[in-house]
Amino acid sequence: MNQIAAAPRVVVLDHAGAVAADVAGRIADRLRARPSAVLGLATGETMRPVHGDLVRRHREEGLSFAGAASFNLDDYVGLPERHPASFRRFMDETLFDHVDIDPARTHLPDGNAADLGREAMDYEAAIAAAGGIDLQLLGIGANGHIAFNEPGSDFASRTRVVGLAASTRAAGQPSFAGSGDVPVLGITMGIASILEARRIVLVATGRGKADAVARAVKGPLDPACPASILRTHPDAVMVCDRAAAAGLS
Ligand code: GLP
Repeated sequence: MNQIAAAPRVVVLDHAGAVAADVAGRIADRLRARPSAVLGLATGETMRPVHGDLVRRHREEGLSFAGAASFNLDDYVGLPERHPASFRRFMDETLFDHVDIDPARTHLPDGNAADLGREAMDYEAAIAAAGGIDLQLLGIGANGHIAFNEPGSDFASRTRVVGLAASTRAAGQPSFAGSGDVPVLGITMGIASILEARRIVLVATGRGKADAVARAVKGPLDPACPASILRTHPDAVMVCDRAAAAGLS
């Protein structure tokens, strides 16, 4: 697959703090326009300051999540929910515990489900039953992955169990400090599932993401760089700091 696709919209801001403020502002705008918005959320260090800015807006500006629902992209398989590195715990500690979202309406795929194939199907069904995702936040892996859709993932993929790339496991290892190794499997929304979101905001900060961003924006439209598919989405924007945008002319 190598056809020309429309260039994605790229917004380049001076530093990571400006990126977080911009992205949180996009979520706040959506929530104000549609208090019952269905948010697609993401984990990772890139999201920490975004969540921080959302918490600040909740406290200082009255931004409310009371009517909203959320669906996260992914989690590890086989990690206890309260493990320090579980994505549920990250979401609770960086966002959910500090805003007025109804915990019952926050969803992550359950990497401890007895039947993971069934869990994947149920997760897709729950998103559909909620009316689909209004705004999906995405990070990007240094290898171009989105969620846990590693290079080579089919653009038509749906929510499923996947093997994690060695580089993804290495990047995740610091959050496991002293508590074991990064699991070898994850459960993730698929690329086709992600593309069904009505709006997508990819967030990239730091020099370590510059190659992946350049490939996503200017490289071939190819599963070797899963994020390249965002160029085909009618309402996707990449918000980057200068460091992450270093490979764009
Ligand atoms: C993990 C997550 C992705 C995230 C990526 C980048 O692989 N599954 O959703 O985009 O990490 O994380 P970070 O923001 O820490 O670089």
